[in-house]
Amino acid sequence: MDKKNAAITGVGICVPNQVLTNDEVAKYTKTTAEWIESRTGISKRRIASPEQAASDLGVIAAEQALTNAGLSAKDVDLIIAATATPDMLFPATACIIQHKLGLKNTAAFDLEAGCSGFIYALNVGSHFITSGQYRTVLVIGTEVLSRLLDWEDRETSVIMGDGAGAVVLQPALPGYGILSCCLGADGSGGEYLRLPAGGSRMPITHQAIDQKMHLFKMNGPEVFRFAMQKVPEAINQVLALSQTSLEEVSLIVPHQANLRILEAVARVMDISMDKFIVNMDRYGNTSSASIPIALYEALAEGRINHGDHIVLTGFGAGLTWGSIHMCWQAK
Ligand code: UT7
Repeated sequence: MDKKNAAITGVGICVPNQVLTNDEVAKYTKTTAEWIESRTGISKRRIASPEQAASDLGVIAAEQALTNAGLSAKDVDLIIAATATPDMLFPATACIIQHKLGLKNTAAFDLEAGCSGFIYALNVGSHFITSGQYRTVLVIGTEVLSRLLDWEDRETSVIMGDGAGAVVLQPALPGYGILSCCLGADGSGGEYLRLPAGGSRMPITHQAIDQKMHLFKMNGPEVFRFAMQKVPEAINQVLALSQTSLEEVSLIVPHQANLRILEAVARVMDISMDKFIVNMDRYGNTSSASIPIALYEALAEGRINHGDHIVLTGFGAGLTWGSIHMCWQAK
């Protein structure tokens, strides 16, 4: 079989209409708008309306990605939804999206790798193209984190936001598309980002709710340290795999967690901040949606052109991390 790389041929996003400013967040917890802005780079985020769940944002992003690829839903062979905030534990949010797209029989599954979910899902999806099993794969990152936040917890409530991004993967032209991927995980750091109740370990009980165990918990400084170490490693590793130098890379599309993390990575790697796409100021940290949303905006701003080498890089709960190097294929 003729093995082909996978290329992104369409990107779409959905960000909810409601904007929540730092001043508004500061009404619920002991913080200030200035603290949030100066320590994270975030000034506002989008919040889903009460009737919007992950599949509702995901399906809009998916439809836009398909339109931008010049395709319709019936062309899709497989849907992978990366999400840490699925509509429900099961059925998979990807199956709910499949139904909303009016499809039947199309394969669909969820993938959970925290904020690295989109990188993991893109890597997995690319193998279905490379193996020749499928020709068109939808990869969606979608999150409604606001629903799992303790708004009194200033560690988490100040950074997260809601949104979705989707891409279409199809066989690439020779030399284009995804050139290398690396993934990693360290389960010993699982406690630093977790949602304790609602799974088989700790069902949701009145006691769990009273102790706020059904809400997102984070050890911010530990995650910060982990990201500062792993992001440079993952970028270097993925470029070593494709034998490409950092100088050849024109743009890095990172997970949008904290501007200070990106500034530290830029310093350590001796890269200009101009090489990083930064949009957390407007959306906060949207977990597995942050990279496709940033990619969409970079394309809309004309910052990615045919033949450009770009690196997508993410990190998050698990702990997990990963990077993808691609040579951009424009239509
Ligand atoms: O997507 C992947 C998951 N998450 C992340 O990547 C998050 C990574 N971590 C972070 O972004 C940062 O750790 C936070 C933004 C969560 C916290 O920032 P930090 O600079 O690491 O703060 P810290 O926890 O080290 O606390 C520094 C000081 C402390 O005060 P003292 O002891 O120096 O007086 C905290 O009590 O800042 C205080 N503090 C706050 N003050 C106002 C911590 N959070 C806040 C807050 N508002 N929200």
